[in-house]
Amino acid sequence: SDIEKGTYPYYMLKEIDEQPAVMRRLVQEYRQADGEIHIDSALVSELAASDRVYIVACGTSSHAGWAAKRFFEELTQIPVEIHLSSEFGYNLPLISKKPFFIYLSQSGETADSRQVLVKTNELDYPALTITNVAGSTLSREADHTLLLYAGPEIAVASTKAYTAQIAVMALLATAVGRTKGLAKATNFPVFQELGIVASAMESIISEKSHFSDLTAEYLTATRNAFYIGRGNDYYVSMEAALKLKEISYIQAEGFAAGELKHGTIALIEEGTPVIGIITDEVTGSHTRGNLKEVESRGAKTLVIASEALAKVGDQILLPQVHPYLTSLLAVLPTQLLAYYATLQRGYDVDKPRNLAKSVTVE
Ligand code: AGP
Repeated sequence: SDIEKGTYPYYMLKEIDEQPAVMRRLVQEYRQADGEIHIDSALVSELAASDRVYIVACGTSSHAGWAAKRFFEELTQIPVEIHLSSEFGYNLPLISKKPFFIYLSQSGETADSRQVLVKTNELDYPALTITNVAGSTLSREADHTLLLYAGPEIAVASTKAYTAQIAVMALLATAVGRTKGLAKATNFPVFQELGIVASAMESIISEKSHFSDLTAEYLTATRNAFYIGRGNDYYVSMEAALKLKEISYIQAEGFAAGELKHGTIALIEEGTPVIGIITDEVTGSHTRGNLKEVESRGAKTLVIASEALAKVGDQILLPQVHPYLTSLLAVLPTQLLAYYATLQRGYDVDKPRNLAKSVTVE
């Protein structure tokens, strides 16, 4: 069954492996017989009429919000803000005239997020919860729910929920954009593109020994590490760093590549691992420049790059997918690096110290 580990040593590895199947399941669940997107029209029109989307979430779910921001704005032409629940609750920014709130929560039980939902409900703002758990608190208390169909996520470190959240946001944004008659959304074959992502994910997952070797070479013995990137690659860097630190206890930071030189570069020493994520044609060469800068200060650099942008010596190559969806792919190697680093350092992958699967206290 879904909650058996089977032959897997840890749930996390099983859940990483399930991601291509989750992408395909989402296509199945959300594709109507006529090829259109199966999302409640009341939800789609309410969102289409809004003037600003507020995504509220914690941890990995907030990183999924970041990963969705750019394509959501392009496909819907609605500005998107991402807020941490624990900050937003006490720091309500000026809200637009027609806001729409999206709560991203794997468990649907996160107290910090619920607290904000209670508040926005009081203010009568429309809200959608995107969650893996039907009937969860955040699902019951929001006006609308969309499900992730990812199957139970048992490992504390979230993997398949992150990619499922991004995929559902892509489906939602496409539906909204099409309702608004926007060409970018009409012309974006979202189901087909998610299918391409699923196959690309499979090719990454099939190279486990490559990742375990790279981990041994770059991460296992280090005290700290950096992920860098720009734009979507920066957002994935934040998630990659969280994953690495929460289970392997390596102090990791995800950084906007261009911002390094404004302070953080002081932390680079002989042998410090710096992992660059490069999936964007425009910013990729700048990130490469930043990698050169840290290399000249002794850093050991590792590059995760889209095949089309790859250079000789890049250690991890990502098959080509639609530019909106690169995060779905770029995150996979970082999940595997975190997994193997934890394994090689001898810690419990599924149950890191000090952490619970869902945080139901403020
Ligand atoms: C992810 O690896 C973390 N364990 C954590 O950041 C998690 O994403 C966060 O607590 C939010 O949980 P939720 O999605 O269930 O609301």
